[in-house]
Amino acid sequence: DTSKLWGGRFTEATDSFVQRFTASVNFDQRMAQEDIEGSLAHAAMLCQVGVLSSEELAQIESGLGQIREEIANGSFEWSVELEDVHMNIESRLTQLIGVTGKKLHTGRSRNDQVATDIRLHLRKAIDHIAAELSRLQLGTIGLAEQHADTVMPGFTHLQTAQPVAFGHHLLAWNEMLERDHGRLLDCRKRLNQSPLGAAALAGTTYPIQRELTAASLGFDKPTENSLDSVSDRDFAIEFCGFAALLLTHLSRMSEELVLWTSAQFNFIELPDRFCTGSSIMPQKKNPDVPELVRGKTGRVNGHLISLLTLMKSQPLAYNKDNQEDKEPLFDTIDTVVDCLRAFADMVPAIRAREDHMREAARRGFSTATDLADYLVRKGLPFRDAHEVVGKAVAHGVASGLDLAEMSLETLQGFSADIGEDVFEVLTLEGSLAARDHLGGTAPAQVRAAAERARALVEAR
Ligand code: ARG
Repeated sequence: DTSKLWGGRFTEATDSFVQRFTASVNFDQRMAQEDIEGSLAHAAMLCQVGVLSSEELAQIESGLGQIREEIANGSFEWSVELEDVHMNIESRLTQLIGVTGKKLHTGRSRNDQVATDIRLHLRKAIDHIAAELSRLQLGTIGLAEQHADTVMPGFTHLQTAQPVAFGHHLLAWNEMLERDHGRLLDCRKRLNQSPLGAAALAGTTYPIQRELTAASLGFDKPTENSLDSVSDRDFAIEFCGFAALLLTHLSRMSEELVLWTSAQFNFIELPDRFCTGSSIMPQKKNPDVPELVRGKTGRVNGHLISLLTLMKSQPLAYNKDNQEDKEPLFDTIDTVVDCLRAFADMVPAIRAREDHMREAARRGFSTATDLADYLVRKGLPFRDAHEVVGKAVAHGVASGLDLAEMSLETLQGFSADIGEDVFEVLTLEGSLAARDHLGGTAPAQVRAAAERARALVEAR
């Protein structure tokens, strides 16, 4: 089939199933703009080193410009017979400008071309994702600032542990996101090198200038080794690693949002616009958005494993296996973009039910550790203090009273060291304020931490 761009050595047409089986155009056409950018840079470089004349370059530029239009306005005709985005565009170029179109591929292979396209496409996605991540971080930090004094129960084992500021809890979320942000930017750094010029695997005999194409495409520099250039997909794996961890964090947050919106916790309210109802139970308001984010974490984790498995047995250099990198990568990008958008819109709109949070903290003996610390200050060894307070809590469980509701006489029955000043220690506010050190939940610390967190995001 000599209508194929590579048809010269073939004597029979490709089996029609094989044609469909090996084609990638249905999913790689989303890199069309990047493919054209790469071709423009390559052609300009070929002209600069004297491989193409300026007239030829001008023709190529105008042809690619028209193709760019056709793709943008939807009139471009994609064909599975032309296998992938690269050959669809190249063959349209030749249709439009004639023989000069056939010169574009001089000193280039689809192997370095596709490696370049994916990097450009992912880089654009990373920049968008970084901006969305910043928006989510700023929304989280903003809500934390509003709730530096809002008391909620902190949990271990999902059992009430000690009171914390709701703002402190939100800043813990931001710490996860801040690390994710660092990983994303780190991935971008390693991604941002140009494989263009590696050609099929060994380089090319033309006097190409890889620095020129690297610079005009915004890469920091050309990649070092031609074999590695066409076979490396580490950047896609790193990105999926970032994504799996980000989604793991969003999933943990989702889990908390789902719990907190339940009638049993009743800590927060999500605005109606982020929830849906039930077709049978009229009373239902379901937190579908966080549930779905939690669910989508599974597919992103799966994509990371897909890519790792795709790469694990590939000999150098390019193998057709690599065509399988795109769907997991693209779906990871799309899922991350959607989940971040949902969270960045939703988090600042969370309404805290401060009265319920407070009541839950009060009911759960959350200041028991404060009472133990109080006894230590009165001279008891910590283990003994722990025992005394444990007895007081047992009495509270049996009698339905929390520690602050017991009379001084009752408390003194557990330890004669307890005085009138104990009641300050048993307040929720006192408990928070007492943890007044870097990383602690005292409202002043929460406000300072929010300020530092905001400065980090805004400095980027
Ligand atoms: N569609 C191919 C891919 O996604 C492009 C590179 C094809 N190269 C080749 N030698 N068959 O990887």
